[in-house]
Formats: sequence, structure tokens, C-alpha cells
Amino acid sequence: MSPTEKAPVIAIDGPTASGKGTIAQRVAQALGWSVLDSGSLYRLTALACLDDGVDPADEAAVAQAARGLDVRFDGGRIFLSEQDVTERIRAEVVGNLASQVAVLGDVRKALLDRQRAFRRAPGLVADGRDMGTVVFPDAPLKVFLVADVAARAQRRCKQLKEKGISANLASLMQDMEERDARDRTRSNAPLVAAPDAHTVDSSNLSIDATVNAVLGLWSKLVSSKA
Ligand code: DC
Repeated sequence: MSPTEKAPVIAIDGPTASGKGTIAQRVAQALGWSVLDSGSLYRLTALACLDDGVDPADEAAVAQAARGLDVRFDGGRIFLSEQDVTERIRAEVVGNLASQVAVLGDVRKALLDRQRAFRRAPGLVADGRDMGTVVFPDAPLKVFLVADVAARAQRRCKQLKEKGISANLASLMQDMEERDARDRTRSNAPLVAAPDAHTVDSSNLSIDATVNAVLGLWSKLVSSKA
């Protein structure tokens, strides 16, 4: 890669609990690349608002909180102002608030450069909602990862129970549908497949099979360019 050439990006977008995070981590590991969990930045913004009493409807104040985030990603742990918040940002209440503040255009703008700064050689696997459409529109590979809502709610329920957090399948499914609808219909960077994205449906695929599907798309792309 020449010094002026940008590091390649594999963009993985999709609805909540579609498995993007796990798949992105595993693909990055297989290729020896960095990973960006862009949702964590929206979750951190939401958590900062909760902790500092910022009104989530006050766009300027939330954007300021987003710009001012003092974040450190360190060996799989996430620190906000030097506090380890790795578990706290995964709470459903934080996820729901993240989806609400993510609607705000100034908040999205405030997080744009932070996300792009993750792009470095030999490559980046970035997961989110708008990786292929807005943040890395020149990504050579874009994957739109979907799974039906029942499969996603079951996965999330299992994850929460494994962490000792009580969860109700019906209410998870309802929250998920509401969050999907908000992410899909917002005017700023809605959740939508880029025109050049490959859709992968993981409803009936194991994690390994989904990872292999993405790696297969990447190998095909690399060999077609060789
Ligand atoms: O991927 P996640 O569930 O951690 O994301 C939490 C919320 O953040 C999600 O409901 C919408 C928002 N988000 C976004 O708008 N754009 C992204 N690239 C990633 C997340």
C-alpha cells in the first residue's frame, strides 16, 4: 500500500443485535486488522448525558457532550473519563438513549472524525448503521447484516441472561422493533444498505458461518483485483 493510499475498510452495518459486533471482531482478528464499534460512541454519548444530567433533546448540549468525550479503548475495555464503563454502556436503557441521541445531526457530525481516525493500515473492520453510507463510503467491501427480529431478540435475551441480567423476550422484541424503526426512519444517516452492499442474512447461520461468509466476500474481492 502506498503512503497516500487509504487503508481498506470492511463496513458491516445492520440492525440492533444482528451480531455485527461479534462478526466484526472475528473478521478483524482473522485479518489482523483494527476494529471500530461505532455504536459504542453513541452509547458513550448517551451515558455521558445520563451521568451529567444533559437533556437528550437538547441537540447543542448533546453534541457538546459527544465532542468532549474522554474515551480510551484499551484491550477490549472502554474507559470514559478513566472510569471503566465496558458493562454499563451495554445496558438496554443506554442503548435506547443512544438510539435517541443518534437521531441528532450535530451529534453525528461531532462523532464523524473520531470514527474516521480508526482507519489505519493494514485495515479496519467497522460496524454500525452508516459505516458504508456515510462514514466510510469508499469502503471496498460493505456488508449489510440482517437477521429476523425473533432471532435477534433470542440472541440478546441469551446474552443478557448469561450476564445474570433478567430479560423478557416479548419486551426485548418490542424495544428492538421500536429502535429499528427509529434507526431506519431518521433523516440523518438512516439505517439502510448502501447500494453496493452485500446483504448477509444470519438468522439461520452460526457465528462461524457468518464470519466465513464475510471473509469469503473479502477474498473474492481481493482475488478479482489481483
Ligand atoms: O450498535 P449498537 O446497538 O451498539 O448502537 C446503539 C445505537 O447507536 C443504535 O440504536 C443507533 C446508534 N448508532 C448509529 O446511529 N450509528 C452507528 N453507526 C452506530 C450506532
